[in-house]
Amino acid sequence: MRKLAKFSSKVFLAPMAGITDPAFRLLCKEEGAGLVTTELTSIHAIVAKEKQLSQENKAITQFVEYSEKERPIAIQLFGNDIDLAVRAAKIVEPYFDIIDFNMGCPAPHITQQEAGAALLQKPVHVKELFARLVTSIDKPVTLKVRAGIKSDNPHLYRDIAKIAEDCGIAMITLHARTLEQGYSGTADWKLIADLKSRVTIPVVGNGDIKTPEDAKRMMDETGCDYVMIGRAAMGNPQIFLQCNEYITSGRYTQITVQDKVKSFLQYLAYARDYAISPAAIKVQAMQFTKGIPGAPDLRRKISACRSGEEFRELFTHHDDV
Ligand SMILES: Cc1cc2nc3c(=O)[nH]c(=O)nc-3n(C[C@H](O)[C@H](O)[C@H](O)COP(=O)(O)O)c2cc1C
Repeated sequence: MRKLAKFSSKVFLAPMAGITDPAFRLLCKEEGAGLVTTELTSIHAIVAKEKQLSQENKAITQFVEYSEKERPIAIQLFGNDIDLAVRAAKIVEPYFDIIDFNMGCPAPHITQQEAGAALLQKPVHVKELFARLVTSIDKPVTLKVRAGIKSDNPHLYRDIAKIAEDCGIAMITLHARTLEQGYSGTADWKLIADLKSRVTIPVVGNGDIKTPEDAKRMMDETGCDYVMIGRAAMGNPQIFLQCNEYITSGRYTQITVQDKVKSFLQYLAYARDYAISPAAIKVQAMQFTKGIPGAPDLRRKISACRSGEEFRELFTHHDDV
């Protein structure tokens, strides 16, 4: 099994499409996230883009951008085709420390291709996929799964995790919800404890961590090796600092409005280095308004912003809102 990079913290940033761009990942990394992961990326897109970019003497990192400061960094791939998955993994492995495979996405346009969470129902196919991936590349391959498809069988992860471990997958993240649940209901942390008792590879627990107390409680209740935070990190990268403090000392720093504003301005400064569109910046800006006085008015003004500079002006003078 390929060795995992050393993680500086037990608290990871979850991959989130439209959110975990390189600027946001770097912010979270600087606030203490132990591992950051790109948003899910199609194996078809990687292979097609590589062909196009290599004709222009450009690397795939023009398509999936990252910075050295984010390391260790994982790229998350999704798809169903085994040959294509291997080709895509070989294309990206020179640049990323970990290749993570998505078996959790519930979006219909992905499950209809029998990718994402739909793969939970295909153990034979998945076994060949993992075996080929692990033996084809030199970087560790990890896995992110949901618990199952429907509530009548929330244990599909059990067989998949065993297959993964036998094939040499280096770590497994469980978002403890079924596909059917989407993001509703609650994550069943008992399933994370159950997974931990069944495998020896590191387990990452995920689902509904909203506070540093939740992060510690998930670790204590499930015995998972690491925890992963998604939605609670949106507009709130300092949650990693708080979790790390709480896990080591039982206390954590409170985040002020000034901290939030400073953090978004830093996001804007980083965003200039990457091809992040004003529309994507707007999504981030909306998230950073949480907890800022006058947020409804601020959000109205954000809607009218057209450039990074306009966002910067608005947040710099946030006291005026
Ligand atoms: C906007 C959004 C985009 C997401 N995109 C991805 C993705 O690209 N890959 C993935 O594995 N999970 C994705 N997820 C799921 C999260 O990684 C995570 O498993 C889920 O949000 C549960 O964790 P949380 O309760 O801490 O948010 C996404 C979630 C959200 C809210």
